[in-house]
Amino acid sequence: MASVKPEEKGIDLSITQDYKLAKDNELRFEVESNARVKLDLLEGSAEVFGTELVRSRSYIFESGAKIAVFTWFGCSVKLSGKVEASYVSKDTPMVIYLNTHAAVEQLRKSAEQDDIRGPRVLVVGAQDVGKTTVCRLLLNYAVRLGRKTTLIDIDVGQGGVSIPGSVGALTVERPADPVDGFDLKVPLVYHFGHTAPNGNIKLYETLISRLADVFNAKCDYNKQVKHSGCIINTCGWVKGQGYQCILHTAQSFEADVVLVLDSERLYNDLKRDLPDFVNVILQPKSPGVVERPREARRDNRENKIKEYFYGPRKIYFPHAFNIKFSEVEIYKIGAPSLPDSCLPLGMEPENTQTKLVQVTPGRDMTHHILSLSMAESLDENLIETNVAGFVVVTNVDPDNQVFSVLSPAPRPLPRKYFLIMDIRFIDINK
Ligand SMILES: Nc1ncnc2c1ncn2[C@@H]1O[C@H](COP(=O)(O)OP(=O)(O)O)[C@@H](O)[C@H]1O
Ligand SMILES: [Mg+2]
Repeated sequence: MASVKPEEKGIDLSITQDYKLAKDNELRFEVESNARVKLDLLEGSAEVFGTELVRSRSYIFESGAKIAVFTWFGCSVKLSGKVEASYVSKDTPMVIYLNTHAAVEQLRKSAEQDDIRGPRVLVVGAQDVGKTTVCRLLLNYAVRLGRKTTLIDIDVGQGGVSIPGSVGALTVERPADPVDGFDLKVPLVYHFGHTAPNGNIKLYETLISRLADVFNAKCDYNKQVKHSGCIINTCGWVKGQGYQCILHTAQSFEADVVLVLDSERLYNDLKRDLPDFVNVILQPKSPGVVERPREARRDNRENKIKEYFYGPRKIYFPHAFNIKFSEVEIYKIGAPSLPDSCLPLGMEPENTQTKLVQVTPGRDMTHHILSLSMAESLDENLIETNVAGFVVVTNVDPDNQVFSVLSPAPRPLPRKYFLIMDIRFIDINK
């Protein structure tokens, strides 16, 4: 028996299927849990969410991945391993998305000619309508034309540029890897601490305004970034306060285009409430987008955190070390709100939402994620300062006044201020 290549471990190579795709068709498949699937392009050309596949590489997708292989001109591909569902469909909105890309690219061209800001595109819609996928598609098509478009990710539930519980920005300078996604080596990340915006609305809106300011500043000194514009990925909370957050985002970034996926009602509300110069467009969702039950979304979140510490396919190993209580200061954002009657005159209750409260380290900190702020002193506003990275607390020893963490970087810590998240991660790899 031929020996199995290390990267093909866990792939059931006895199960293979070839697919011939006509032009404008896509092959959709899901990888069974605890299985892996290999994809090979045999002939023609194809792309995965906007990244072209090459024939010289096998693409190996991990358990739970939900993938579409689309072809503009026709192709044949081979799948090896256990796929949950796989079928070919010609019913895709890819031509519509490509036209959107072309229109946005036109705006980038005019921006370049007149040296003004390029298009700022806000992508909104309910959960599981393909928002993240459309963002990836638009960013990939832009970078394939040499643009340096910035991804602004404010979906704190899934964490597009870092872990869940954070928001951030990433200027995309090369297409996403079909398997691993965008290269996340240098994102700009801010601590939020919760998996949903309503964990702290005031903080959420503060961070959105902050991201907009930082992006504007970057546009001021980098013309290519300025002309290329940005794509803003949001979470699926579109009702009530969630809707107000969308309006706040459009306003903060001065969005030129708002792409509404699948929701006519949201489209009409936004057309009514946004100024006339904002181009609000309604587009269909792809029938291929897979709805994820609550548990799947939670698993995704856990995987994202695991990947942060262990790398994709566990190719790295995090560092484990102790930190003395006296070496660091830990803060939580937001004080418990007081009833109105107890507040000083003139103070609004939500002001407490962005207050820093120092936390005394204790056992209840175990498993919580801590963000290490880049701030060098408390004179800098901790809330609006980006973070260097994250650690997870694995143990707290109050008797010896130390706690243990898992960290992607070795010690020493470059800074001393931590912000504590509500989010916990239990490391089962130990
Ligand atoms: N055309 C498609 N075929 C198959 N799976 C898809 C397709 N488009 C998206 N998906 C998958 O569907 C899931 C949900 O899509 P996503 O873009 O994350 O939605 P949202 O951001 O709106 O919640 C993802 O796992 C994604 O990989
Ligand atoms: Mg998403």
